[in-house]
Amino acid sequence: MPIHLSTPSRRTFLTQLGGAVVCAPALHAAEAARVDADRIAILNDTHIGAQHPASASIPTHLRETVAWLVAQERRPAAVVINGDLALSNGRPGDYAHFARLIAPLREAGMPVHLTLGNHDDRDVFYQVLQAEKAAEPPVVSRHVGVVTLPKANLFLLDSLKTVGQGAEARVVAQGLLGAEQLAWLGRLLDAHPGKPALVFAHHNPRLGGGELHYPGGLEDSEPLWDLLASRPQVKAYIHGHIHDRSHYQHRGIHILNTPATSYVSKQSTSTTGWTMAQLSDQGADFTTLTHEKAHAWNGKVEKVAWRVG
Ligand SMILES: [Fe+2]
Repeated sequence: MPIHLSTPSRRTFLTQLGGAVVCAPALHAAEAARVDADRIAILNDTHIGAQHPASASIPTHLRETVAWLVAQERRPAAVVINGDLALSNGRPGDYAHFARLIAPLREAGMPVHLTLGNHDDRDVFYQVLQAEKAAEPPVVSRHVGVVTLPKANLFLLDSLKTVGQGAEARVVAQGLLGAEQLAWLGRLLDAHPGKPALVFAHHNPRLGGGELHYPGGLEDSEPLWDLLASRPQVKAYIHGHIHDRSHYQHRGIHILNTPATSYVSKQSTSTTGWTMAQLSDQGADFTTLTHEKAHAWNGKVEKVAWRVG
């Protein structure tokens, strides 16, 4: 049975924002007073599988994160779950399980925004999470959107790359935005010049050395960066995919690699968790929170100052 994440009766408006559909749930006055408009929750790589028993670590991590968010006195104005929602290849049962796990966020009135990664399947995602599908997608066959907050606009991109056609189509590990999505992003950024722009996509860019050149990253990183760097309102690019935590800068744009919710890539140094961003007029504090409370990452803050412009 398809799962609808938004309860229609709670949805008060549906706006067209530069071609992207943004939904917001209705809030009672007491709930609305708990929302901090400058606070964003960032999760990624939830990797939920249909076959996971409730006690398995991966769904337990997401359940704990969701419970923490719902219990917050100052709730985030947006929860972004930045790709690789499903365990390995995006089966219907994966998304049904994922929807059940994150349902408390929507029941609490928190706007949840989803992007797709290389372990997702766009068609199956839309089959199960029907409310996610835009009636008129601004980019053909891509799941994109814009979220407007008082201190920043969030541009949510779709870096899931498929090769082949029809029944032969398959997803590959590398990411690709494609010319149409880049053109859409350029138009949208030009239409929103005055406010800091934060760009979210699942894949890391391939730029420079070190982790920025992680081979599974975004194939069209160079044209993306030309597009972003030439628009001074773009301040940060936020990604997952690596299941690690890092912070670099390239051409004035901060690159924040946020930890996976599900499992780690490097047992010796990494752990699972999520990220809370607190926006100011000049930048943002990105705080890592981890499931393993004693881990060195827990409570670690990246203080990020926006470039001038
Ligand atoms: Fe990934």
